[in-house]
Amino acid sequence: MRQYWQKKPLLIRQAVPDVQPPVTRAELFALAEQDDVESRLIVRRGAPGPTRSAAGRSQRARAEWQLKRGPMARRSLPPLGQPGWTLLVQGLDLHVPAAHDLLQRFRFVPDARLDDVMVSYATDTGGVGPHYDAYDVFLLQVSGRRRWRVGPLRDASLEPDLPLKILSRFEPEQEWVLEPGDMLYLPPMWGHDGVAEGDDCMTCSVGFRVPESTALSRELLLRWADELSVPDAPRLYKDPRQPATAEPARVPEALQDFARQAIERLLRDPGGLLSALGEVLTEPKPHVWFQPGSPLPQGCGVRLDARTRMMYDDQRVFANGESWRAAGRDARMLRELADRRVLSARVVGQASAALQALLGQWAEDGWLHPLDAE
Ligand code: SIN
Ligand code: CO
Repeated sequence: MRQYWQKKPLLIRQAVPDVQPPVTRAELFALAEQDDVESRLIVRRGAPGPTRSAAGRSQRARAEWQLKRGPMARRSLPPLGQPGWTLLVQGLDLHVPAAHDLLQRFRFVPDARLDDVMVSYATDTGGVGPHYDAYDVFLLQVSGRRRWRVGPLRDASLEPDLPLKILSRFEPEQEWVLEPGDMLYLPPMWGHDGVAEGDDCMTCSVGFRVPESTALSRELLLRWADELSVPDAPRLYKDPRQPATAEPARVPEALQDFARQAIERLLRDPGGLLSALGEVLTEPKPHVWFQPGSPLPQGCGVRLDARTRMMYDDQRVFANGESWRAAGRDARMLRELADRRVLSARVVGQASAALQALLGQWAEDGWLHPLDAE
């Protein structure tokens, strides 16, 4: 983290020795058929093959790129023998336990920043073209080989009129061929181009969330505003010094001050803001839903469902877009659950009645499950 995170690329040979693809090709194609799974097919025709330098630019420009969004039937995928196509499946960690386990290895970065595991499957020469991302990414090769070319983003211009964002003047500075188990870390805004060398190339990308200031403010303010209630002693606007006016349409300055002070008063008590932040950060993605579960058996431990997002701060605990104030022993237990994603039967047995009831509710909502006795 000190040397590379958000600073410079890092190639780690055999970062995950003996890595196994979290899904087979057939399982991946089946996932792409589901409507609760985000998938994309990218087909390049007139494939120019790997380019070595800026001289390859004109060749790339002539290639024809097609993008199709899922869900897509297996039969609508190109034949396996056709080079130059790639299937990308997002949020694999929500559907495949092995991908969820892989994501857990990256929890040296706070959960608030972790996004998902995407997997790409490519036939020979397949790839998504030279591009950059706004977020950090770890690219773990899980089967086959892929040649990565990377370089700092000096010119962000994109090829015009293409269905995907392809850099028109990508200047790679380094290149490596990654074999299964090898991993490449890239900071945001680094140009990169990964081209499959041979068939059956699978790469897992662990991607991160990057809050954008304006979008985050909008979300926070909406949520915060929803929770505001008028106090028992409401502060009403008063204007005993308002003179008779000849400009009735003008907004009174005193009313502008009243509004400014109302907002400043809110900001002086940031509790609402921090609750809203935790709720926004743990809000499930749009097509995520939970299968209702059953009541917790007596005396069992619990583990969070792979879809549950759970975080905390000094005063609150957040899960799946909701928040609770927590203190003392219950808060310590909930933080342990959030950090480890499991609580042993012994710890659950020591929880207060209120916390046991909350865990029971979460079990019924499908947010957590009984921990299998080991
Ligand atoms: C890929 O796996 O083909 C693309 C991943 C990326 O460039 O972020
Ligand atoms: Co990328």
